[in-house]
Amino acid sequence: MNPDDLKQRLTDDIASASDLAALEAVRVAAIGKSGSVTALLKTLGAMDADSRAAEGPKIHSLRECVTAAIAERKAALEDAELDRRLKTEHVDLSLPARESPRGSVHPVSQVMDELAEIFADLGFAVAEGPEIEDDWHNFTALNIPETHPARDMHDTFYMAGEHDTQMVLRTHTSPVQIRTMMSEKPPIRIIAPGRVYRSDSDATHTPMFHQIEGLVIDRGIHMGHLKWTLETFLRAFFERDDVVLRMRPSYFPFTEPSAEVDVGWSIEKGRRVVGGSEGWMEVLGSGMVHPKVIAACGLDPAEWQGFAFGTGVDRLAMLKYGMDDLRAFFDGDLRWLKHYGFSAFDVPTLSGGVGA
Ligand code: PHE
Repeated sequence: MNPDDLKQRLTDDIASASDLAALEAVRVAAIGKSGSVTALLKTLGAMDADSRAAEGPKIHSLRECVTAAIAERKAALEDAELDRRLKTEHVDLSLPARESPRGSVHPVSQVMDELAEIFADLGFAVAEGPEIEDDWHNFTALNIPETHPARDMHDTFYMAGEHDTQMVLRTHTSPVQIRTMMSEKPPIRIIAPGRVYRSDSDATHTPMFHQIEGLVIDRGIHMGHLKWTLETFLRAFFERDDVVLRMRPSYFPFTEPSAEVDVGWSIEKGRRVVGGSEGWMEVLGSGMVHPKVIAACGLDPAEWQGFAFGTGVDRLAMLKYGMDDLRAFFDGDLRWLKHYGFSAFDVPTLSGGVGA
């Protein structure tokens, strides 16, 4: 076909291509590898010099015309498509935003935030210490003698430290008492939440769990301050005014006197809840900081005294939010996390209800 006829035919084809797919078919049939224009270009090679000089410009200009016409038609079709969509598709700004997958706050983190909020209101700062601890901070400075069963291989994870020293994974948060008394001047009011480790595993024990320590060091501190603080904290935490405490004499090497603290529970709608006094359950260990511990930290026990307490964060979470298997806390099961998790937007505040 001669270039002029071909041009006429292709111009018609391009004009009548009604959508982008049809136009693409025309493009391939014209200037694709085995298209009609491409075939015409190939004939130039076999021509003698005169014919080539005559035909060459015609064929090349045909190719340019066709290419330009396709581009123009393509732009027109795209515009038309955009117009059509603008006319038919509406953005409804009144529709609620689509929900995106969001994580949740783990009950342990939630409870730690609640505790930090409650104790901040009582003037306590948050203190931290290492999870890999040395024997002195974890045991010796806390007046735990060499022969104490807590040092037994069955309870404590031992590990090698630098220069032939032996380190432990801290078995409680009490070493943070020591670190705080050594690094800060009294008066001291701190809580120390964090991970602790014991070689123990069943439905109510996991090798890693969470504790929170409390420490007050000042002049003239006595058991009355301890009892009031624990009562105020437990009532705020369980969000009930009828939380009753019972203190029982106990023994911890680092407190003297020592008291184990029970809270009263009662049955409500067939469930055991904290509050009232139908029965008792132990929730924390406490006492007056032993003078030997105060002295080990370089303070004069004749001038400074105080109280300390320690409790399990996971256990507090279970009691408040009704989970019954501790192991599920650390399984990472998304269904459990979704069920028991908290929204990151519900920040615990005393005014809004800490567990809101
Ligand atoms: N550290 C003790 C424990 O892990 C708890 C405790 C802390 C007791 C502070 C008294 C004072 O069991």
